[in-house]
Amino acid sequence: MVSISSSSPGKSILFGEHAVVYDQPAIAVPVHQVKSNAFIRLNHQGKTGEIWIEAPDIGINANMIDISSDHPIVMTCKSVIKYLNIYDFPAFRLKLTSSIPIAAGLGSGASVSIVIIRAISSYLDHPLSDNEVNNLAFEMEKLYHGTPSGIDNTVITYAVPIYFKRHQPFRLINVTQKLMLVIADTGIKSLTSHSVSNVRKLYNSNPERYSKIFYQIGKVTETAYQFIENGKTEQLGNLMNENQSLLQTLNVSCSELDVLIEAARKAGALGAKLSGGGLGGNMIALVTDQSVKKVNQVLLDAGAVNTIITTIDPKII
Ligand code: PMV
Repeated sequence: MVSISSSSPGKSILFGEHAVVYDQPAIAVPVHQVKSNAFIRLNHQGKTGEIWIEAPDIGINANMIDISSDHPIVMTCKSVIKYLNIYDFPAFRLKLTSSIPIAAGLGSGASVSIVIIRAISSYLDHPLSDNEVNNLAFEMEKLYHGTPSGIDNTVITYAVPIYFKRHQPFRLINVTQKLMLVIADTGIKSLTSHSVSNVRKLYNSNPERYSKIFYQIGKVTETAYQFIENGKTEQLGNLMNENQSLLQTLNVSCSELDVLIEAARKAGALGAKLSGGGLGGNMIALVTDQSVKKVNQVLLDAGAVNTIITTIDPKII
């Protein structure tokens, strides 16, 4: 094959982050306004089995063997080659670009893994099924942040709204009324592994208390799932606010997130909460056609470094 490309969206968690690591449900949606891309083409100059990696966003332009073997991109390339058990391929160049901010709760790591897995397997004439892509991407997630629930790789692989529980097949959510979100970035980089391990310490300090909080988040998420499927959008906002209060008791919010969340609510958002690992990264506000402009502007005025407006549309059958 001469060339191939693959692209994947980012994602946003609407309900249930952190609790999902402790077997509670969570809800996530793809965010198509941001994307990662992989482009592969034959490298006439290279030797058999050689991969040249170009990732201009992070300053990489080198032969894979000259890049640290524990770099996530290298590990992902190696894992898909190993899975396919094909080593004698003609040399190729892999170019990676992404508009998904890193360490911001929008699934950048999983999205990049998925485009690498899809592009390499297709380029080597063994395109993998979504299930295989998802499983391989989950292995990569484990390498980056220890105990991932698997929600990021799943929502990005399938690129549909999902109700997700660890160790269970995900459910596709039947969105019946348009959901509109403003996603606002605090600009603070925050590693998921860091906030997940902080929550783990809290949990270990008092398993009974924190299990109850996770359970409450799970209940909020289940109700939200029903509301989304039944088109009760207005009532979802309160659930987002409730979810945010519970996340605050896990110490994963921070003053910058709280300021944006408060500003969005005051500007007329139906509800608002952090999204993803927290301690920085992005927050989300549920808005209507009437409030979207104002909420977006108020978030920028309140210090958001970037905003994304995204809609989750009912599936047209
Ligand atoms: O920070 P993100 O976007 O990778 O989201 C992580 C979600 C958590 O529930 C905090 C962790 C997980 O693995 O589910």
